[in-house]
Amino acid sequence: MLSEDAMTQERVRETVREGYGKIARSGARDEAPSGAAPPAGGCCGPACCGDASESAAAKLARDVGYAAADLDTLPEGANLGLSCGNPTAIAGLQPGDVVLDLGSGGGFDVFIAGPKVGARGRVIGVDMTPDMISRARRSVPAYRERTGLDNVEFRLGEIEHLPVADESVDVVISNCVLNLSPDKPQVWREIARVLKPGGRVAISDLALLRPLPEVVRGMVEALVGCVAGAVLVEDTRRMIETAGLADVRLTPKPFYVRSAAEMRDPMYRKIAEHLPPGTTPGDYITSLDITARKTAGSRTV
Ligand SMILES: C[S@@+](CC[C@H](N)C(=O)[O-])C[C@H]1O[C@@H](n2cnc3c(N)ncnc32)[C@H](O)[C@@H]1O
Repeated sequence: MLSEDAMTQERVRETVREGYGKIARSGARDEAPSGAAPPAGGCCGPACCGDASESAAAKLARDVGYAAADLDTLPEGANLGLSCGNPTAIAGLQPGDVVLDLGSGGGFDVFIAGPKVGARGRVIGVDMTPDMISRARRSVPAYRERTGLDNVEFRLGEIEHLPVADESVDVVISNCVLNLSPDKPQVWREIARVLKPGGRVAISDLALLRPLPEVVRGMVEALVGCVAGAVLVEDTRRMIETAGLADVRLTPKPFYVRSAAEMRDPMYRKIAEHLPPGTTPGDYITSLDITARKTAGSRTV
């Protein structure tokens, strides 16, 4: 029988899987008919849930620094507007690298990383939502046609139990996913396990600058929307170091949450209603760039 803790973790995964399954089936807000309602239960990214009339997902990607040339080669429908940063920009990807994308969604960063690692490299996306994996796999033929590369794949699995061999990955990337995990220390142990000695981490996620009010932590749309499960910046550092990784750098990027609040994203509006007077979501939540390294002598747990 599952322990109470394991059951709670499973319920979180189920809620998240359900939310992102709906998004995978319906597509980004841009693809929905004009005026269509956002997916029920919230989602991560103002381009997904916000008042987006034209290509909001593409605008968000440009705003967080994705190069137009990279975005132009993406298969249609791979960018669902679910990102909160630009991990490929901080990953220093090299030809020949083996890259692992945690929570790859529609394949956005996998398809961006593929041409950077080239024919000798490989990019593996892992996601626990079957509809996301199916959606990403449907885009692979278009990616191959546009780039001439056959170097990406998508595996169904949980980031707490990665379907990836020990010490087989040069770079772990992830975009707005770790906050959704009900067992973040386990995710960091898995990252440390799959990285080769000398391998590196380049992750964008949402994190907290101060604890959120209890009522916000309990909102389902804030969980699926990548906020309620976020942890304090310093707790993130502790988990990474405890997993045995070194050279940890955490860089807050306030732009994303401010722009979500300014776009009058319904979820951020609802969160704002529950914050103390005089405070805004940006006082609590930030996008965070995370880099770290598995040193040759790292003792991983
Ligand atoms: C906010 S979306 C981000 C998708 C993608 N990284 C992007 O930027 O477009 C979160 C994704 O992580 C996946 N996910 C959430 N929790 C997960 C877990 N514990 N294990 C594996 N995948 C997970 C969801 O299914 C969803 O596709």
